[in-house]
Amino acid sequence: MSKKIGMIGWRGMVGSVLIQRMQEENDFAGLDATFFSTSQVGEPGPALGGAPKPLQDAYDVEALTDKDVIVTCQGGDYTQQMHPQLRAAGWHGFWIDAASALRMEPTSVIVLDPVNRHVIDRALERGCKDFIGGNCTVSLMLLAIHGLIERGWVEWITSMTYQSASGAGAAQMKELVLQMAEIGQRAGTGAADARMPVLDVEKSVTDLLQSADLTINQFGAPLAASLIPWIDRAMENGQTREEWKGQAEANKILEQDPPLPIDGQCVRVGAMRCHSQGLTIKMKQDIPLPDIEAAIRSANQWVRWVPNTKEDTLQQLTPAAISGQLDIAIGRVRKMTLGPEYITAFTVGDQLLWGAAEPVRRILQIVLNA
Ligand code: HSE
Repeated sequence: MSKKIGMIGWRGMVGSVLIQRMQEENDFAGLDATFFSTSQVGEPGPALGGAPKPLQDAYDVEALTDKDVIVTCQGGDYTQQMHPQLRAAGWHGFWIDAASALRMEPTSVIVLDPVNRHVIDRALERGCKDFIGGNCTVSLMLLAIHGLIERGWVEWITSMTYQSASGAGAAQMKELVLQMAEIGQRAGTGAADARMPVLDVEKSVTDLLQSADLTINQFGAPLAASLIPWIDRAMENGQTREEWKGQAEANKILEQDPPLPIDGQCVRVGAMRCHSQGLTIKMKQDIPLPDIEAAIRSANQWVRWVPNTKEDTLQQLTPAAISGQLDIAIGRVRKMTLGPEYITAFTVGDQLLWGAAEPVRRILQIVLNA
């Protein structure tokens, strides 16, 4: 008999990408999928996983506990409200979640199966039922350099991030484009006029960025033609929570003990849906570059090695090039002048695919086949 799956938050940005990927991979075949809604109960659901059925109430504990697996991209508030209720009702199904709410709970596993399939398998054996997708930046970094970490070569990592608007949310993505349009309206004609002095064009852009006219309702500051070196809320030690997640989540994913030190600055930039990271990696020893390249390349099928040339970098190592793809590009790899144990690398990955939806899609397949 096919397993009963409940899907919640499937219309949002991550949920939509998840559904799209599930369709591409024909994952709905053989699934008995029920779609839940927090706001449109009773309306027809999507025609996926069988004939369309009316949307069920995402707050109906009885309807939810009827499912073998619940997959939610609804967000942390929903998780915090419903997960305890379902467990208190004695429900022992699999809870698969894209939100961060349960990530650091001792009873849950952060899923990134190309990196931690062994951790997932052990958790399944001991009866773990809560499987949570990781922070996008962490997942993308680990996919890119797992080849170095798994060999035990890495002493510490600093990650300087260039995170896209999609990580902040759908409204923020739209606001970025709106800011671009507003800048274009103000300064576009001058920019297209070869005779216009560039400092006049710059001044009209800067005047707009520093005025109250630019739309900044979501970000609280201009992102287009600027950047924002702050993501998520403050921690007591001066990190942002996004920066804190780097070490905390990566080590939980890897079950690394003693923990691998990871820290850096997380920065929002005007990319649409790809997160990039500039990495400084302190190796435990002087590993030759060809060995580093071989280790990175062999870690998983999605890592795409980009040679350290201008041409390859411009063609293959940008958010524009990687958007919409499962590839994890890594390039600009070289020894640093700091010493032979220090290497630098730049990596780019789609924040909505491997950064969010893909680990969730894949853990659903894993638990269904467990
Ligand atoms: N917190 C990330 C960001 C996205 O703001 O870019 C989710 O992992």
